[in-house]
Formats: sequence, structure tokens, C-alpha cells
Amino acid sequence: MVREDRLSGKVALVTGATGGIGEAIARRLAAEGATVVVTDLDVDQCEKLAGELPGGALGLRLDVTDETAWETVVAQVTDRLGSLSVLVNNAGIAAMGTVETETRETWDRVIGVTQTGVWLGMKHGGPAIEHSGGGSIVNIASIFGTVGGFGAQFSYHAAKGAVRLMTKNAGLHWGGRGVRVNSLHPGFIETPLSRELWQGTPRLTAMIEGTPLGRLGTTEEVAGAVAFLASDDAGFMTGSELYVDGGWTAR
Ligand SMILES: NC(=O)c1ccc[n+]([C@@H]2O[C@H](COP(=O)([O-])OP(=O)(O)OC[C@H]3O[C@@H](n4cnc5c(N)ncnc54)[C@H](O)[C@@H]3O)[C@@H](O)[C@H]2O)c1
Repeated sequence: MVREDRLSGKVALVTGATGGIGEAIARRLAAEGATVVVTDLDVDQCEKLAGELPGGALGLRLDVTDETAWETVVAQVTDRLGSLSVLVNNAGIAAMGTVETETRETWDRVIGVTQTGVWLGMKHGGPAIEHSGGGSIVNIASIFGTVGGFGAQFSYHAAKGAVRLMTKNAGLHWGGRGVRVNSLHPGFIETPLSRELWQGTPRLTAMIEGTPLGRLGTTEEVAGAVAFLASDDAGFMTGSELYVDGGWTAR
């Protein structure tokens, strides 16, 4: 259930915010009162989504692999909006290779966006949150950051596992300084992209059959959990992992 004022007064930056899950997160944080900074690779799409959100949202281009871009965007946000309270490191990409077939090119690309991008976000977003009086970093990991899945998507597992542990390390670093850091682990979520990718495949059947709740999750269910971690309701949580996976990892 959307709680309209839970995030009022907070400025929240979301990466990969025009993708399936990212858009739902941006919409949910705005619906709960945050001023959302919509960032992704295509600035037109960012500005379009920001224009649809309440609360004076801003659309900016941010390639999460680019450290200079992080510096620029964080400075722009604090200059124009006065603070940064919430950072959602959502951008992530995957490749299909196994431990044997993964190529150096796909490994570098997946690690660059999905792992290094999260580190750079914390490195530059964290101090801005601390200077703004504290807040929350939510790193979107995956069940594939915790378990071996189907023995494929090797670099994605490596990156998401790193996100899980970087979260704990950063949570300890900022403990007592007002910056909470938690990882959120979605299971199989239905998005426009995943629908296209999985529709009619045996993988889809395996995903649904392996999920105790017997269905895919929705982007809104992930976004609701992000809103909770972003809010003061999660004020005593740091370095922890929240699973939105229909019970997949409980087996
Ligand atoms: N869909 C699922 O089932 C699922 C499950 C577990 C975890 N996740 C994670 O949730 C997050 C969002 O996934 P999604 O399903 O919405 O994927 P998506 O492909 O729909 O969205 C990803 C977004 O990231 C953006 N992006 C890619 N490279 C970028 C870069 N270098 N800099 C900035 N943005 C970049 C893309 O433009 C896109 O908008 C990812 O971290 C993904 O790993 C998804």
C-alpha cells in the first residue's frame, strides 16, 4: 500500500530508472512523497518519465560506469535540489555465458555496470547523503547474488554476489554516520524485457515451478520493498538483505 507522506522531504536518485523495475521504483518513491532524480542512459526517456512524476522530479543522463558522470550528477542534484537522502543503485545488465563460455568482453561489461556501477554510486552518493543529514542506499542485487541459479549467467552471479557483500562492507563503514546500506534481492520479476525473453521457454516454467508462491513477481512488489528500505521505517536496518523472491531462496 502506498503511504503518501512516508518519503516527503527526501530527494531520491534512481539509476537505470527507465527500465522495467527502475520505472516502478521511481513511480513508487514519487508516490510516497520523494523528489525523484530519474537517471539512465537515454536522457529523453529520463526527462519524459520525470515529467510524469509528482514532486518536481528531475531527469538526468547517468552512465553508472562513468566516475566523472557520477561526480557531476551528484553535484547537480545537491546544487539544484539541496540534498540527497536516498540512492537506489538499480542499473544492472546480464549475459548468458557459463563459467566456460563467458567471454572476457561480456565479463568486463557485466561487471562494469552491475558491480562497479554500484560501487561508484555508493562512493559518490554516500558522502552526499551523509552531508545531507543521513539516509538510505538500496542496492538492487538478485537471488542470483546468493545462490547459483541455473549454472549460467556467470558474470551476473559474480557481480550480484559482490553487490551483496559490498553492501555489508559499506553498511559497516557508514554505521553510526547516518547512512544505511541494504541490498534487495528480487526473484523472477515480470518486466517488458523479461516477458519478451522468457515467454514460452522451458526456463519460464522452471522459474515459476521453483517459486513457492507459484508465479513471477511484479515490479510494484519490488518497488514497495525499496520504498520501505528507503524510509525511516527501516531505520534500524543496515548491511542486511531483503528478498522479494516468492520464496525461491527458502528452499
Ligand atoms: N527482472 C528480473 O527478474 C530481475 C531479477 C533480479 C534482479 N533484477 C535486477 O533489477 C535491476 C533492474 O532490472 P530490470 O529487469 O528492470 O532490467 P531492465 O533491462 O529493464 O532495466 C535496466 C536499466 O538499466 C539501464 N542501464 C544499463 N546499463 C546502464 C549503465 N551503464 N548506466 C546506467 N543505466 C544503465 C538500462 O538502460 C535499463 O533502463 C537490475 O539490477 C537487475 O539485475 C532483475
